[in-house]
Amino acid sequence: MICLGIEGTAHTFGVGIINDEGIILADKRSIYKPSRGKGIVPNEAAEHHKKNSKIVIEAALSKADLELKDVDILAYSCGPGIPLPLIFTANFAIKLSKKYRKPLTKVHHGIGHIEIGRLTTGAKDPLVVYLSGGHNSLLALVENSYKIFGETMDITCANLLDVVAREMGLSSPGGPEIEKLAKAGKYVELPLVIKGMDVSFSGILTAAIKKYKEGIPKEDICYSIQETCFAMLTEVTERAVAHVGKKEVLLVGGVAVNKRLQEMMRIMCKDRDGKMYVVPQEYAVDNGVNIAWVGILAHKSGWKADFKDKILPRWRIDEVPWFQT
Ligand SMILES: Nc1ncnc2c1ncn2[C@@H]1O[C@H](COP(=O)(O)OP(=O)(O)OP(=O)(O)O)[C@@H](O)[C@H]1O
Ligand SMILES: [Mg+2]
Repeated sequence: MICLGIEGTAHTFGVGIINDEGIILADKRSIYKPSRGKGIVPNEAAEHHKKNSKIVIEAALSKADLELKDVDILAYSCGPGIPLPLIFTANFAIKLSKKYRKPLTKVHHGIGHIEIGRLTTGAKDPLVVYLSGGHNSLLALVENSYKIFGETMDITCANLLDVVAREMGLSSPGGPEIEKLAKAGKYVELPLVIKGMDVSFSGILTAAIKKYKEGIPKEDICYSIQETCFAMLTEVTERAVAHVGKKEVLLVGGVAVNKRLQEMMRIMCKDRDGKMYVVPQEYAVDNGVNIAWVGILAHKSGWKADFKDKILPRWRIDEVPWFQT
């Protein structure tokens, strides 16, 4: 069985093609870049998707050496995300499904990030640490759905990194820039806030910007943010692992590629005789393969999407009907 998946929740329009053995046949993407210093402008992102959709899908089909009639099922990212790009993506997928008479599945963008991590790393039943632009969650499969064990009480870690980087005039996205500069930094104190398995980053944001304006070097700010945030995330992850009784930790989402975060998590897992897995960098960010793979899993499970709501911009991951694969 072959699934073609379409991603379009925010900046990326991606088409991925995968078979039911998890063999990736194509992965093509086009990424909208907002002008410098700006965040995503919703109608610009939707326009970008509209302009590039045909090129991306044709490139993916050509890479897989397939035509749409050869694909068995279709899937699209239904949410969470930005309404305008989501609507374009949903309509695009629904039109294809009608035209080629192919079954269509709605996919939760976050489940895509997690399941591609399980597929590519071989992690079986991990505690998932999902750190992306919009998510900062500790999750695990319990009774056939992903339950959230810890979250941020305010902004995400990714958000903190991006905003502080922007304030310091670093280029976007901020995470990789902060990781580079942190190598030459030393520690200054920042507020570390943990409640149970939840974290808070807004105090670090305010303090880091204040310290930067007071003249603390960028390198020291970067180093201290990393040390503080990643120590917090490692501590709550350890608590969650103990609480849910998992032996594996799987890092997914854009921040997962950070080497210092990986180092801290690896030490914690080793101490507990557990194992740490990290999603490969190319699949850590948004792409159509993530969506296509969940399309396969959903189809295999027999789950039938209803199209009452074409898009679900605020779809919570723990509301997704799921299954133990
Ligand atoms: N080396 C790195 N260290 C830390 N953070 C990083 C690194 N590389 C990328 N990031 C961060 O990852 C974030 C983007 O992650 P991702 O692409 O998974 O988010 P998203 O897909 O936009 O959000 P969501 O999946 O919640 O919709 C950015 O904030 C970026 O700064
Ligand atoms: Mg994403």
